[in-house]
Amino acid sequence: MIKPVGAITRGTTNPNRLRRVDNFIAYRCGALLKEAAQPLVIDLGYGATPVTAVELRGRLAAAVRPDVVVAGLEIDPVRVSDAQPFADPPWLLFRRGGFELAGMAPVVVRAFNVLRQYPEEEVAAAWRAMTATGALLVEGTCDELGRIATWTVVEGGVPSTLTLSARLPVLSHPAIFAERLPKALIHHNVPGHPVHELLRALGRAWDAEATPFGPRQRWLATARRMRADGWPLLDGPARWRLGELTLPWPARLWPV
Ligand SMILES: C[S@@+](CC[C@H](N)C(=O)[O-])C[C@H]1O[C@@H](n2cnc3c(N)ncnc32)[C@H](O)[C@@H]1O
Repeated sequence: MIKPVGAITRGTTNPNRLRRVDNFIAYRCGALLKEAAQPLVIDLGYGATPVTAVELRGRLAAAVRPDVVVAGLEIDPVRVSDAQPFADPPWLLFRRGGFELAGMAPVVVRAFNVLRQYPEEEVAAAWRAMTATGALLVEGTCDELGRIATWTVVEGGVPSTLTLSARLPVLSHPAIFAERLPKALIHHNVPGHPVHELLRALGRAWDAEATPFGPRQRWLATARRMRADGWPLLDGPARWRLGELTLPWPARLWPV
């Protein structure tokens, strides 16, 4: 048996907490999964209960292809055995594994709220391990209920994009994203660093776009203003409407 790479961490999870990133995976990885001979997605570190892996399989089966396979990997053997009643072979499996992916070769890996519990120095090696067989990795973090989430897409060990996503009706101010940045960024949100400049610009645009028409219109106007100010937003109004913005990874905007 391959030795799982990583460490057991807190297993906190919640139903529906990862709906925002599930929707993004269907959108961003849908074509890749549709073309794949074996449409395997790994949900790495599903936590104390496998509810978010069950939801991921259901959402991708409905939105992308019904034969998508989701394998939940956990480094904690107790969580692997506790998850077995939720398995639905061959479509939904739960196995022991870590960043080495238990020898599997998925098209997509989701690792949510996993690396936040690791030291920052371990992030790059974990990214490399999870993308070593060519998978696209979606790695990020969210609050308890999934109202605020951020994630990166990592290809070949290198982060390509940063997505900020919020449930707009309860978004008070985009400064809140600072609390939920991916591990690789959270300690870099200080003046002079690209992620800090990005969040400041987003906050300024939001402040400038107060509107009587509610948070969705305000977010759309904020995104338009960011683009007009030269920020290279990679998506458009269809994603903005969901409370989502995707940009190149901050260090690609201004290398530090
Ligand atoms: C906070 S829970 C996240 C649960 C779920 N992904 C979510 O976002 O709701 C983190 C889980 O990741 C697991 N974990 C940590 N490192 C891991 C690794 N290297 N490989 C697999 N699982 C890991 C922990 O055991 C824990 O159950």
